[in-house]
Amino acid sequence: MRRRPGSPFRFGDAAAFRAWREAKLAAYPRRAAELVVEVRDPRALRAAERTAIEERLRRANMAIYASRPRARAGKELARILGRQFGLERIDSNWLAGDDGVSRIAVREDATRGEFIPYTSRAIGWHTDGYYNPPERRIRAFILHCASSAAAGGESLLLDHELAYLALRERNPAWIRALMRPGAMTIPARADEAGVARAASSAAVFSIDARDGALHMRYTARTVSIGWARDAATAGAVACLADWLGERNPYALRLRLEAGMGVICNNVLHARTAFADAPERPRLLFRIRYLERARPRGCYQ
Ligand SMILES: [Fe+2]
Repeated sequence: MRRRPGSPFRFGDAAAFRAWREAKLAAYPRRAAELVVEVRDPRALRAAERTAIEERLRRANMAIYASRPRARAGKELARILGRQFGLERIDSNWLAGDDGVSRIAVREDATRGEFIPYTSRAIGWHTDGYYNPPERRIRAFILHCASSAAAGGESLLLDHELAYLALRERNPAWIRALMRPGAMTIPARADEAGVARAASSAAVFSIDARDGALHMRYTARTVSIGWARDAATAGAVACLADWLGERNPYALRLRLEAGMGVICNNVLHARTAFADAPERPRLLFRIRYLERARPRGCYQ
């Protein structure tokens, strides 16, 4: 694949960065409603629907589709939708079913209960798969809502390119620190059977050599995360945590209702706490992909 000339994420091309910055800020949605595309059937998008989703992906690395709720269609629907954007290589993990589609719902059993996605608690800012090894880097995901909570459970979404932009503007040395391969370390997780996941160390920001796209690996968690011990990394991490605080104007907030979903290039996201109705608990399907959702004409 041809390398994108003048990638704004590489140092040494200040003009490309300035031009990209201006265009990015001008195009970025001001409200979550701007991300929403009404679609008749996510499994068979009309040309105009597809174009509208691509346009949001280009502007903000994410789009929200809204369709009428369909009983028992969520799992397959998300997979078929993804294929229409070149998403084929599904990452599967040990909590997902064999098909790599995770059911995100409150779980009472002990093993899953340890993991916040399977509780009703709030989830802080992160990108997906921040603990994955580099060969299983998560570049995109789809989150499809089959059933929303009785109360709460809002999604917060923020294009990770804006986190890069904010930090680089404040102090380029912070970006250089977060681009080092050892910037962030997730320690090994041991279970009764031995080591379930090896320690994983990687950069927060990285540029895909194939297409120049920016990837971010991040969690706002402070427990069990090891940061490189230098002043630039510490400054960057503190600034990022502060920037992601309550008043970030680029954080787009909405609640996914049944039939709605997010398709995105693994942007920063968070979730508010929720309360379930016992007869109809919140249920989302999530698929993680090893490639980006690729709008035509973007990074090619
Ligand atoms: Fe997530």
